[in-house]
Amino acid sequence: MQIPAEFAPRVDRDIALGPMTAYGVGGTARWLARPASVEELIALVELCRISAVPIYPLGKGANLLVSDDGVDGLVLRLDAAAFQDIDWPSRNERIAHGSAIVRAGAGADMHRLVRESVRRGLGGLEVLAGIPGSLGGIVRMNAGGRWGQIADVVRRVTVVEPGRGLRVLEPAEVGFAYRRTELGEAIVCGVELALTWDDPQALRERMLAIWSAKKAAQPFAEHSAGCVFKNPPRAEMNGAVPESARERSASAGALIDRAGLKGLRVGGASVSTQHGNFIVAEPSATAADIMTLIGRVRRAVAERFGVELELEIKVWDRVGSGQRERTAC
Ligand code: EPU
Repeated sequence: MQIPAEFAPRVDRDIALGPMTAYGVGGTARWLARPASVEELIALVELCRISAVPIYPLGKGANLLVSDDGVDGLVLRLDAAAFQDIDWPSRNERIAHGSAIVRAGAGADMHRLVRESVRRGLGGLEVLAGIPGSLGGIVRMNAGGRWGQIADVVRRVTVVEPGRGLRVLEPAEVGFAYRRTELGEAIVCGVELALTWDDPQALRERMLAIWSAKKAAQPFAEHSAGCVFKNPPRAEMNGAVPESARERSASAGALIDRAGLKGLRVGGASVSTQHGNFIVAEPSATAADIMTLIGRVRRAVAERFGVELELEIKVWDRVGSGQRERTAC
């Protein structure tokens, strides 16, 4: 693909992706693009479409494993100021409307959004305390946990879709389900959230309680990409559990734990001794170590419980490019 001169300052070649991910492993991207505006993003997406170059949208790399071979395509990072802006409602709007609409770019940092919404007395995001990532990636995979999921507060999502340009989607068109959406190739560039005015002190206490419950259960001090597998639905309720209710179903971490796999190691990667659904990586780890360990855990859980664990993390590799879900938060 020929990069036109006007994009040259925003596109780098052969960039190592490991440092941009929580795992810190993986190879290079053929191109890494950081558009400065929505217009540039639209033009880049169109360029890739006509050149048949796959796009890999990258948020903060919180939920992503990049293969040691890297990816042959264009990695898109929406970290320019235009994509990190957050438009907070004013107190006057509170009096006028009672509701609280927050507009934020896809590159906005989730920790910042949670902290700042709580400080301003806006409820709805505090349940996502402790979830790392960019807002775009969080929406894309409908991130959440026991206390709630982002879908609960999403009002509209602005996307750039190859061949269709800029579109504004209602939640039903986003297709939120358990840790999944129907966004396909669409790239999230902005999100409108519907929050609720509340008491900042009460929100703060709730946020801190969720944070400490997570810190007690999960290996925050180590390098990981969060839960590796989705929670499987309970066998006896197969099909009867709506996808959005899977939080309440069997825990993949508990199955891995009961199969005796905590501490299992391949090279620099091991199953966390704290939570079975986390694979933690030492600085010496490679993506291949993590992938091999994922395969072993999957086989052991299938043999012991007859459950096929499905990946929650995104894996970017050369083999799967084109068919695989590529967005990561
Ligand atoms: N458990 C074990 N052993 C383990 C891990 C868990 O016995 O090694 C047990 C726990 O004691 C508890 C049950 O399993 O009784 C559920 O564990 P937990 O509360 O940790 O919840 P989870 O279902 O394992 C989900 C999300 C997490 C989220 C937590 C809390 C998924 C795949 N995981 O985990 O999300 O933080 O609830 O809300 O949905 C992530 O998405 O990356 C993630 C970490």
